[in-house]
Amino acid sequence: MIASRLVAWQRRHGRNDLPWQNTRDAYRVWLSEIMLQQTRVSSVVPYFLRFVERFPTVQALAAADEDEVLALWSGLGYYSRARNLHRCARELVERRGGVFPSEPAELERLPGVGRSTAAAIAVFAFGRRAAILDGNVRRVLARWAGIRGHAGEPAVLAALWSAAERELPHDSLEAYTQGLMDLGASLCSRTRPACGLCPIAENCVARREGLLDSIPGRRPPRALPLRERTWLVIRRAREVLVEKRAPAGVWGGMWSLPEAEADDAGNAAELALRRFALRTRAGVELAAVDHVFTHFRLRARPVVLECEDARACRDGDPRAGRWLALERADDAPLPAPVKTLLRALREPLREPDAGSGTGGSATAA
Ligand code: ADE
Repeated sequence: MIASRLVAWQRRHGRNDLPWQNTRDAYRVWLSEIMLQQTRVSSVVPYFLRFVERFPTVQALAAADEDEVLALWSGLGYYSRARNLHRCARELVERRGGVFPSEPAELERLPGVGRSTAAAIAVFAFGRRAAILDGNVRRVLARWAGIRGHAGEPAVLAALWSAAERELPHDSLEAYTQGLMDLGASLCSRTRPACGLCPIAENCVARREGLLDSIPGRRPPRALPLRERTWLVIRRAREVLVEKRAPAGVWGGMWSLPEAEADDAGNAAELALRRFALRTRAGVELAAVDHVFTHFRLRARPVVLECEDARACRDGDPRAGRWLALERADDAPLPAPVKTLLRALREPLREPDAGSGTGGSATAA
C-alpha cells in the first residue's frame, strides 16, 4: 500500500497553495482540471486567474460569447478543451441550474470530462472516493506496480486502472490524489527519477528490478500511411525551377520542387508546359525520395525535365516559380530532402554540354 506514505509526503512536500486548492467550489475545481489536461501547473496558473476574474461563476461563463472564451484561452492550446468547457457551462446552467453533479459517473457525462478528470473533480470538490489516472499518475503506478507496455494498449490501461483502484485509500482522498499528481510532476520524472527522495521507492518494482528506463513502455511506432507524389525537376543548364509551397500543410511556406500526383509521372512534360509555360523534354526518373512526417510517409519520385529551348527559357521567367542555381541550393529555404536531391544533381551537370544530357546518373535517397 502506498497511501499512508504518499499522504504524509504530500502534506510536507506537495503543492498545497495553488489557486484552485483549499476550496470546495466545484466551478474552480472543474475549470482547473480541464486546464490541467495535458498542460503543466506553471502554465495554467495565470490563465486560471484571468479566467476566474472575468468569469467568476459557471453562470458568467455560460453567458459569455464563445469568441471571448477562446480569446482568454488563447495560448493554452488544444482549443477543443475551451469549446467543450463553454458547452459544458451552458449545459450545466440550462439543465442543472448551474449545479455540478458530485457522482464521478455523472461528472464523466459532461463535455470534456473523462474518467480521470471526473474522479479528480469528485475528490477535490466533493471529497468523494474515486481513482484518477492522468499521464503523470500512469507513470508513477506503472513503475511502482511493474506494469510494462504502453498505456495505448487496452490491456496495459486496464492493469493501470486496476492498480489505481486497488491502492485507493478510504480517507485523506484529497492529499492522496494530490500526492500522486505531485509525485508524478516532480520526483517520478520520465528521465532520471529522484528515487532517493521518493516516499514509495521501497516497494517500487521498476526501481528494484532496474526497469526505470523501460517502464512506462514507449508508444509503439505507428504504421503511417504512404503518400506518393511526383516531383518535377525542371532543369535549365545549372539551374532548377522551384516554387513556394502553400502556407498550410507540410513544409508550409518553404520553396520546393513543383509537386504532382504520383500517376502524373508520365505526363510530367505536359504539366511543365501547362503550369509554367515551359517546353521540356522528359528525362529519366531518379531514385525515390522518402521522408517521414508525423502523420504520413512521403515517397516522391523526381522526374527530370530538360528545357527544350534553353534560350527561350532564359529570356522570360516562367509564369510561377523561380530558377535556383544548384550551387545556391544549400543556402535556400528548401526542405532537407530537396537539398540532398539537388546536391546529387550538381555532379553530372559539370559536363561541358550541360543542358543536353538527362542527368540520369544522379540519385537521391
Ligand atoms: N494535474 C491535473 N490535475 C492537477 C491538480 N489538481 N494539481 C496539480 N496537477 C494536476
